[in-house]
Amino acid sequence: MAIRKIRLEGDAVLGKKCRPVEKMTDKIHVLVDDMLETMYESNGVGLAAPQVGILKRVVVIDVGDGPLVMINPQLIESQGEQTGDEGCLSVPGVAGQVTRPNYVRVQALDEEMQEIEIEATELLARACCHEIDHLDGIMYTALVEDGLHPVSNEEE
Ligand code: NI
Repeated sequence: MAIRKIRLEGDAVLGKKCRPVEKMTDKIHVLVDDMLETMYESNGVGLAAPQVGILKRVVVIDVGDGPLVMINPQLIESQGEQTGDEGCLSVPGVAGQVTRPNYVRVQALDEEMQEIEIEATELLARACCHEIDHLDGIMYTALVEDGLHPVSNEEE
């Protein structure tokens, strides 16, 4: 495993749409392991492959319940609303208020390319939306309602 370099806002790779993973390979297993290690090292709760410069639909999340790996995730249902602070490892040192669904259902593949479905609320729902947005080149800073403010610890 290795720590990968996190791309920062302004890097063109973060604005691009990622391609689906067609087939699990050793390379993608290594990518997943590296993404988890990179996320934990930065105390993030989520990381998407474009943040380490790879334009593939791969996401890792850990909101404190253990690692969640999602390949080709798709938001299939959302309900309700939550407004709260959001941050991103690609935009260090700041956060901003974003409104997201309070409940989501996500279909994805796991690392064995088996279908999984995740039901999520609150922080996990927010993290799923934030990370899936990354795969479509959308940064949370484009969704912030009241501007960015400085924070001491980074998230997502
Ligand atoms: Ni992010």
